[in-house]
Order: sequence, then C-alpha cells, then structure tokens
Amino acid sequence: FHVEWDLVQAEKGGYDSFMLKEIHEQPQAVRETMGARIDQENKRIVMPELKMSDAELAKYDRIYIVACGTSMHAGLVGKDVIEKWTRVPVEVAVASEFRYRDPIYTDNTLMIVISQSGETADTLAALREAKKSNVKVMAITNVVGSSVAREADEVIFTWAGPEVAVASTKAYTSQVVALYLFSLYLAQVKGTLAATEVAEVVDHLQEIPAKITSMLEDAEQVRHFAESTKGVNSLFFIGRSLDYAVSLEGSLKLKEISYIHSEAYPAGELKHGTLALIEDNVPVVALATQPDIYEKMVSNIVEVKARGARVLGFAIEGNNDLAKSVDEVIYLPATLPMLTPILTVIPLQLLSYFASVVRGLDVDKPRNLAKSVTVE
Ligand code: G6P
Repeated sequence: FHVEWDLVQAEKGGYDSFMLKEIHEQPQAVRETMGARIDQENKRIVMPELKMSDAELAKYDRIYIVACGTSMHAGLVGKDVIEKWTRVPVEVAVASEFRYRDPIYTDNTLMIVISQSGETADTLAALREAKKSNVKVMAITNVVGSSVAREADEVIFTWAGPEVAVASTKAYTSQVVALYLFSLYLAQVKGTLAATEVAEVVDHLQEIPAKITSMLEDAEQVRHFAESTKGVNSLFFIGRSLDYAVSLEGSLKLKEISYIHSEAYPAGELKHGTLALIEDNVPVVALATQPDIYEKMVSNIVEVKARGARVLGFAIEGNNDLAKSVDEVIYLPATLPMLTPILTVIPLQLLSYFASVVRGLDVDKPRNLAKSVTVE
C-alpha cells in the first residue's frame, strides 16, 4: 500500500489552486487585519503600532501613496477614503514612475508605501528616495521582516497570512481594510469625523467578513459569465469614482491570469475614445454600486448597450432598477458606499479565476509574471 504525498497539493488545502484558496481565505484575512485595531467597547480605532504621536500625525496635510500593481490599486481606494474622511489631499503614484520624479515635499507630507511582499524593487527605491528627503514613510505590508517593513518609519501589517499565487487577492482586500482603519484613525486624530460616524463605519466593517463569505458561496453566476467569455478577445470594465478604482483591479486580474485583453475605463470618459471599440457582443462589466453617481452610470450603460455590448452589471441588493438596462446583474450585499470596494472585488477575482480555468491556463503561475519583482 503506497500513499502519494504531494506537499504542494496539501498546501492548497483542497483547492485546485493557491489563488482559489486565497480568495476563500479573505473573510479570515480581513478579520485579522481589523483584529485588535478595533476597540469594541468604544467603537473606535486604535493603532498601538504607530510610534509617532497623535500630534505629529495630525500635522500631515498632504499624502503620497506609492505602490505597484494590485497594491497601487488598493491605494486608489485609499485615496478616495482618506480624502472623504479626513479632507487631506492624497496623490497615488506608480512606484516606477515616482522614483524618478521630483516630488513636491513639504514638512507636512506623509508617504504611504503599500507592498504585499515588502520586497518590490521600485517601491523600495521610492521609499529610500523619500527618506533621503527626510519625509516620514509609513508602510502597509504583509511580510514581517521584509525590506519595506524594516526601512519604513512606521509599519501597519495586514496580517493576511502568506500569499502564494502570483495574482494578488487577499493581500488587496486586507490592504484596503488597513487603509480604512488608518483613515478612520486619522479622522479621529484630526477630528474630521464625529465619534458616531466612526462607530457607524466600524459596525459596517465588522459585517464585511460574513458578507464576503456569502458572496463566495454564491459564485455560480460569475462562473457562468466567465465561461461565456471563452472565445472573447477583449473585455471592458466601466465604473465611476470608487467603482472605477475597483474596475482597474478587475481588469488587471483578468489580464494577468486569463490573458484576455481588457481595459478599465471611467464610464464618463468612454465618449472620448473607447466607445469606438464597443460593437456587437463585446462584453462589458459595469459597476454601478455608488448611489451618488448611479443615474450617470446608468446613462453610460445605455450608451454601450446601444452599440451592442453584452453587459454584466453589478448592483447593490435591493436595487431592482439596473436589471432593466443590462443583460445580467450580480447583486452585492448592502454596506456603506465607501466600503463597497471590498465586496465588489470578490466577483471580479472569481471572474478572472474562472476565465483562466475555462481556458486551461495555469492560474497560479501566469506567463511572464513573478510574485515579487525584486529587480527594476
Ligand atoms: C507583482 C505581482 C503583483 C503585485 C505587484 C506588487 O507584479 O505579480 O501581484 O501586485 O508585484 O507587489 P507587492 O508585493 O509590492 O505588493
């Protein structure tokens, strides 16, 4: 009697790929990110890991967020959230560009670098450049002892657990949660949100893991849509504001592991060029989760439908209106509009995963890509 013991198979914990395993680990990963940083009794955020005083933190009136790939996309969500809750202007930059720029630093500029691995060469170089200019650098990273964690002045660990698949999933959601926590903390320190407003966000944040679980249990419709893209060469994602930020991540995931050409577009910008590419049966994923610009988004969907696009819409549960304008709808559990990105990204991750599987590709090891890019 002989048992084949495959270590890699065992590490995948019953899933057929690390990516699928890591997608399913997200409820736990984001729970860990929140962990002890939520003061349950007072419904406030605590950040004991920060070495700087609240007085120092309060003085920052300008933030650069610098990162690569998926981490940069988490930064785009962070920008909107920080600006909304703290009114501090934030610029998000791709590290490979930022390191060769001549950034405008003031005494009150904070730099936040985001890196799952903590070893990405461009991000590390941007961090070092900033430190040379005496700019305070805060890192959001998943790896304790990584170069970024060691060299940054301040570190917020995401505690998502090891991520193996090249395409990043749980690192993204945990980075986004870390950015929510930091933004709330900054808002507390600056007094830009009332205690009741912070408490309301905290309540909603704590419901997020269960909502992710329910979405993971209900993946059939996404799988079906992904399978229908088998012969497709090109796919578009459209959205506005936070939906646009998440679209970029959905498009990147699809390119990375299913090799489908894909673009993410701010829906209002379509008319300035990309609309020319929409013709019969071109698949368009349209995110319409943000109530303040919902009507505008529907008008953009009508524009692509009129050119023959096949539209998969994303709407918040209870919104029965979107179904009238699209071919299929994925409903997301209701939460605060600012928190929706953590939920919206889940079916987008699954879409890229199923699109890769249906093409018979290696989900975990896409061609030409590496998990951590430690050279320039
Ligand atoms: C590589 C990976 C991406 C990742 C990016 C940044 O390109 O393939 O998945 O988002 O690096 O990595 P980091 O470890 O700095 O977050």
